[in-house]
Amino acid sequence: MTDVDDAPELTLEGFNLFSDQVQQCPHAYYALMREQTPVFHVPGTDIYLVTRHDLVVPILRDVETFSSNFSTTGMKPDADLIAKMNDVIKQGWPKVPTMLTIDPPHHTRFRGTVAPYFVPRRMKELEGPITEIVDRLIDALPTDGTVVNVVDALNVPVPIEAIAHVLNVPPEKLADFKRWSDDSIASIGTAISDERRLEALAGEVEFQHYFAEQLERRRSEPIGDLMSDLVQARIESEPDHPAIEGDGKRSLDMPEMLSIVQQLLVAGNETTTKSLTEGVRLLAENPDVWAKLKADPEGYAPNVTEEVLRMSTPTQGMFRIVQRDTEIDGFPVPKGARLVVVYSAANRDPEVFPNPDEFDPDRDGLMKQHLAFGKGIHFCIGAPLSRLEMNTVFRQLGRRIESITLADDNELRYFPSFMLRGLMRLDVSFTRAD
Ligand code: HEM
Repeated sequence: MTDVDDAPELTLEGFNLFSDQVQQCPHAYYALMREQTPVFHVPGTDIYLVTRHDLVVPILRDVETFSSNFSTTGMKPDADLIAKMNDVIKQGWPKVPTMLTIDPPHHTRFRGTVAPYFVPRRMKELEGPITEIVDRLIDALPTDGTVVNVVDALNVPVPIEAIAHVLNVPPEKLADFKRWSDDSIASIGTAISDERRLEALAGEVEFQHYFAEQLERRRSEPIGDLMSDLVQARIESEPDHPAIEGDGKRSLDMPEMLSIVQQLLVAGNETTTKSLTEGVRLLAENPDVWAKLKADPEGYAPNVTEEVLRMSTPTQGMFRIVQRDTEIDGFPVPKGARLVVVYSAANRDPEVFPNPDEFDPDRDGLMKQHLAFGKGIHFCIGAPLSRLEMNTVFRQLGRRIESITLADDNELRYFPSFMLRGLMRLDVSFTRAD
């Protein structure tokens, strides 16, 4: 079964990233772009979408021409709103770029402070706690045919509770933690009201205060967690930095540490939730795959995870800022233009993934070729964690659940954003195997 509607009269004329039709099912548009104009200039903007796998990969490798310094690419608010936003921002710490939106050499320094956390040994230590989280949530699923929204019941809590475990956030703070995560992504790739923008900013400031206190505490009482690593980290310093020490290094300052912690939230929660939801849908819609997973939950779950990542690609694309006039596949792109490397389009490139709209976890070389986590120096630092979470969910569903059935009245509406793609809810009923 494929997840792309036939749309015979589709055209790229007047293509609008914010239109509901595009956001609900972009794949047919991406297919047209790959065929007709793989570097597509979005009318009336300085945005270019790059949709072919063989064009996206070299862009990710050429970090000098294609910069990740895109933190200022949001929609510009009017002066009145800026004044109100500044009043909120003043109550927190300045937001500084650290990993996702910064280029080398700074990128390398910041990434080095958290990379040691996401190594296999640490992930192994997380296997037990994450299985416990997933099992507790599966225990609570109704299995008498009652329909449940699996987004709320399973797919939101898994990544939130997993990263909360990593950051040692206590259970009573989980609801706030989830709210801060929502606030941090509120304006990414979507249009929101002024009120929501201000509310979201206030949530981010609240988040900063909570974690600033935690980080200060780790300074006097390190407990060997990721935040303790951050306060102890020493990075190569810029020569003119006031905190530089004799060895040319310095500690991270509070805005930098907060930026890193916030990115772990922003980048990890929504994305994993969205992939898990698409995964449950795909398993329910593809009984042959479900049967294979049930026959060997441990062995087959990683295949399911990688194919779900390819098909869902919740981070649909990422910006790169063009540093000099250049050409991509013969198409001129001017200095200053904003490119979007469209990972979700590249992940359905039939040159790399034959029959790309089909859910087939047995594809060869899947893990190496799909771009759901990007590629190159910005490759998702949390990939091992989210793979662990997804593998655990699919494995435990395969072991413990007999059948997954989609409710007939599912609307299958996607979150309205051109950056983050995922179903807003998914109503499902389960029957239990154990
Ligand atoms: C299914 C889940 C996830 C998906 C699809 C995803 C996707 C991505 C992608 C595509 C990038 C590269 C962005 C670029 O090219 O500029 C990225 C970077 C990043 N991701 Fe993830 N991510 C996921 C989960 C996570 C988790 C669980 C965490 C943290 C715990 C995380 C933290 C980050 C960070 C910090 C970066 C920036 C890395 C850098 O710029 O060096 N992500 N992610």
